Amino acid sequence: MIKPHGSDKLNPLYVADAAKRDKLIQEAKSLPSILISSAAAGNAVMLGGGYFNPLTGYMNVADSMSVAKDMRTTSGLFWPTPVLNMVEDASAVKGAKRIALKDPNIAGNPVIAIQDVQAIETFTDEQMKTITKAVYGTDDMEHVGVKTFNTVGRTVISGPIQVLNYSYFDKEFADTFRTAVQIREEMGKLGWEKVVAFQTRNPMHLAHEELCRMAYIDEKADGILIHMLLGKLKKGDIPADVRDACIRKMVEVYFEPNTVLVTGYGFDMLYAGPREAVLHAIFRQNSGCTHLIVGRDHAGVGDYYGPFDAQTVFDNISKKDLLIDIYRADHTAYSKKLNKVVMMNRVQNHTKEDFVLLSGTKVREMLGKGIKPPKEFSRPEVAEILIKYYESTVE
Ligand code: ADX
Repeated sequence: MIKPHGSDKLNPLYVADAAKRDKLIQEAKSLPSILISSAAAGNAVMLGGGYFNPLTGYMNVADSMSVAKDMRTTSGLFWPTPVLNMVEDASAVKGAKRIALKDPNIAGNPVIAIQDVQAIETFTDEQMKTITKAVYGTDDMEHVGVKTFNTVGRTVISGPIQVLNYSYFDKEFADTFRTAVQIREEMGKLGWEKVVAFQTRNPMHLAHEELCRMAYIDEKADGILIHMLLGKLKKGDIPADVRDACIRKMVEVYFEPNTVLVTGYGFDMLYAGPREAVLHAIFRQNSGCTHLIVGRDHAGVGDYYGPFDAQTVFDNISKKDLLIDIYRADHTAYSKKLNKVVMMNRVQNHTKEDFVLLSGTKVREMLGKGIKPPKEFSRPEVAEILIKYYESTVE
């Protein structure tokens, strides 16, 4: 199987030994504690599951600046986005060497991880701006990712962590949430070597389904890893449980048995376009996948990125830094001439009028108006689940 990023063996930070974990849970009760942001909790879940291998914890200011500017930590590790524990006010843990991190996403705020504090520093205005622009390509506060990043505080608590649980993800999405370790195990059992990973935050419309099929066939892969985001999204996006149901139905009806693994990971969407695509590639490599599908406006929002910026960002990344291959997909659309979804650059004798352009946004608009998406957009079984969900949201 493909090697993890930056090390020969995956080093997940979740404390898997139950006795050791219990001891740490007891210890946490007597440690100074602090409520962390949802983004920082997501980082803990990703570090815990081995997705963010070989990082050992949260970055400091120097590493964050280095990653923002050069996609490399100060020690030279290739990494595209700062992995931070940023808070508004760190006075509750001032001077402490070891602290307990409280999860904001669960009632009662249980401890999610223990952190050894390396430093407590504060980003300057200039540093916040530099990171924001480098990672998101803009500092426009209308950009949902920029806004989230700039409103959680700017005091940085850095240092290694030991992760005690996977927040709400393994309970709320027991069938779907998987760690990188578990995905490697499952793919190993299936004997999969060549695997195409599909990142998604959508219920998977026809374009998504066909994209997976095309990559699977083109790469002569052993399997497809559908890997959905289970964390927070922007307003209007479809909740994870509904997406999960749609995807499972689609796979059950339209894919050959044992060719697809439906899984998810616990992280909030950054909407950082190209930089997030690189992060996506790293954590799919850590999950054992040999290819990541990157299509149109991958991890984008609004008009902040060019439709294929998330592909060209890989042009200058060498194999030394990233082993996983990128399956670059052109815009997929429904061809009225051929009566199927096609990659637009692969078909001849088509004019603009011969295509129905598919987009998640368009489908959401239709659903919002109570219109069932047509066959060119969604499978009927998927459309049915979505319509039910939308009806349930109308008073
Ligand atoms: S994402 O934010 O998770 O990237 P989404 O779930 O919509 O959003 O997309 C998942 C993957 O499918 C991404 O790689 C995206 O580029 C690709 N994709 C979605 N729709 C299309 C399309 N119509 N044409 C080409 N690629 C697409």
